[in-house]
Amino acid sequence: MKKDFLKMQDLSKDELFEILDLAADLKDKQHRGIPHKLLEGKTLGMIFEKSSTRTRVSFETGIYQLGGTGLFLSSKETQLGRGEPIKDTARVLSRYLDGIMIRTFGQEIVEELAQYSSIPVINALTDYAHPCQILADLLTIKEHKGGFDGRKMCFIGDGANNMANSLVVGGLMAGMDVAVATPAGYEPDPTVLKYAEQYGSKFTLTESVMEAAKDCDALFTDVWSSMGMEAEIEERKRIFKDYQINSDVMAVANKDAMVQHCLPAHRGEEITDEVFEAHADEIFDEAENRLHAQKAVMVKLMK
Ligand code: CP
Ligand code: NVA
Repeated sequence: MKKDFLKMQDLSKDELFEILDLAADLKDKQHRGIPHKLLEGKTLGMIFEKSSTRTRVSFETGIYQLGGTGLFLSSKETQLGRGEPIKDTARVLSRYLDGIMIRTFGQEIVEELAQYSSIPVINALTDYAHPCQILADLLTIKEHKGGFDGRKMCFIGDGANNMANSLVVGGLMAGMDVAVATPAGYEPDPTVLKYAEQYGSKFTLTESVMEAAKDCDALFTDVWSSMGMEAEIEERKRIFKDYQINSDVMAVANKDAMVQHCLPAHRGEEITDEVFEAHADEIFDEAENRLHAQKAVMVKLMK
């Protein structure tokens, strides 16, 4: 039966670690120039209803490096943008393609696409989740810290956004302690809080940035206003103004703590320029790892 990747919860811990191992192997092969055309002749459709730099380029390059082809399908230029139902689009695309990647708004859209597709569907960001990003994040932590056991990560910012939701699940699944610092009313999705319950005291939800950052090995943040929240930008600047990774926050984290940002970053808002530049190598390793992690996902689902 085909398998989809719509949210971190779709993976077991074993599957997560298999993907991270495969991603590391594909990264090594790519860096050493060893061919790995594991998806020769396969086509990935890439539906975008929101903007993207990293996701588009890394998926398109990734499928090419695997011997296949990527088709960029902007909703503006396809019949999707003129109202053709997702369930019809799913059945049509399933007759042409070997896999579909989609970036859209509601999680229910990717769920419906997956339900009506006979080929694997990969979530490349919804309002609820950004699971491909979290695979890259975990790969980067593994590379820099050697593993996850005994490590603590935190997310500082909009605790209800796609990154926070997916990081909580991914971080706990990998074996880390996870803390989220966010203002009241911006807690992760109830499904995520429910997931976290099984991990007991390994998960902390707080309004205090310092509490979340204390003794952390990896600090994450993300924009205060995600795509689709353009009307709330000014209000959110007020609400989240104290939810920033800066040198005071870094001072309570572990001495060799790493900083991660899915990008694009708004310097001076969720992160200071000083902290960003001090951790730029880790952040751009994270961006590179989108390529390797997504190649691993495509191989697992489409081969
Ligand atoms: N991090 C991320 O998904 O970047 P893009 O929006 O550029 O794809
Ligand atoms: N939370 C951000 C992530 C961008 C990659 C957004 O949805 O806009």
